[in-house]
Amino acid sequence: MIGKICGTGSYVPPHIMDNDDLSRIVDTNDAWIRERTGIARRHIIEDETTSYMAGQAALRAVEQSGIDPKEIELILVATSSSETVFPCAACEVQKMIGAVNAAGFDMNAACTGFVLAFNTAQAYISAGLYRTILVIGADSMSNMVDWTDRGTCILFGDGAGAAILQAEEGEPCIMAAHSDGIKGPALTGLSRHRKGREPGVEDKESYIHMDGQGVFKFAVRKVPEIVEEVLEKAGMEIDDIDYFILHQANRRIIEAVAKRLHTDISRFPMNLEEYANTSAATVPILLDEMNRNNKFSKGQKLILSGFGAGLTWAACLFEW
Ligand code: ACO
Repeated sequence: MIGKICGTGSYVPPHIMDNDDLSRIVDTNDAWIRERTGIARRHIIEDETTSYMAGQAALRAVEQSGIDPKEIELILVATSSSETVFPCAACEVQKMIGAVNAAGFDMNAACTGFVLAFNTAQAYISAGLYRTILVIGADSMSNMVDWTDRGTCILFGDGAGAAILQAEEGEPCIMAAHSDGIKGPALTGLSRHRKGREPGVEDKESYIHMDGQGVFKFAVRKVPEIVEEVLEKAGMEIDDIDYFILHQANRRIIEAVAKRLHTDISRFPMNLEEYANTSAATVPILLDEMNRNNKFSKGQKLILSGFGAGLTWAACLFEW
């Protein structure tokens, strides 16, 4: 069995902060940010929350799929920035969309979260445990960045994306996932909601801290490796794949991955110019944009890959 995508949806806040806006807050400029990252602007929450964005993306996916929310049996939300530790965002989404028959829980693997949640959903489906699963990636990175640190605040944005999987006869997805906790200090973050509430935790420690070059090197080494790993498991060649839908962290990372795989960059779609790095939401937002622009057709082969804090990285190869 395989979980076929029968609907996608996404939500980004209407409030836009472009690179010029950022240059009025920290010592940076549009040319530097575009050249080093490919990012031009990001969407930032005002009154919205992570759960709200997740719910909006879910509603759009439900609408596109045409299913009744009561058919959804499981809701998985990948997030590291929910406004509450509990109730989990998945239960908030369940309430918002009326998925009264669903179980739900959150998963946190930072920017890798959506691909791991997608793989988890596929494993449940191929084991015959559930037939209809809603998978969401949602993050409010603006709550976690230090807006005085030009090394990190330029990189992130807020948003959510969702996909509904329905069981069909067919070859299961090919999956892989890895973690390297020893390298965890390369990228750390606590939510702003916890700032000042934990004895001994200073404000500055509560924000995202990143060894930018270390994360860059990790990504350009590990993403090609995991792409090759799923290709080998599937008995496929790189040219069999139509699209590589990678976590949208940095244009230079994606270009370097394409180069290491000796593959044309045109098969690596990108939308980070518009949204920046929305952590667990980048992959499903891109999936939804491509789906709504009719970029996918039956039988195409896709590889999704996420990478980020943990350090964690994961991939999934499947047929549309
Ligand atoms: N504007 C202007 N100048 C800047 C800025 C900025 N926003 N940030 C840093 N600089 C300066 C630095 O101070 C430094 O100046 P110096 O030479 O006078 O010391 C110079 O620019 C170069 O700084 P580097 O940090 O070496 O720049 P680099 O080319 O490595 O780019 C970047 C930094 C963009 C963060 C890069 O390392 C990167 O993209 N790393 C990957 C990070 C990432 O994507 N993280 C998230 C992925 S994982 C996840 O999604 C959770």
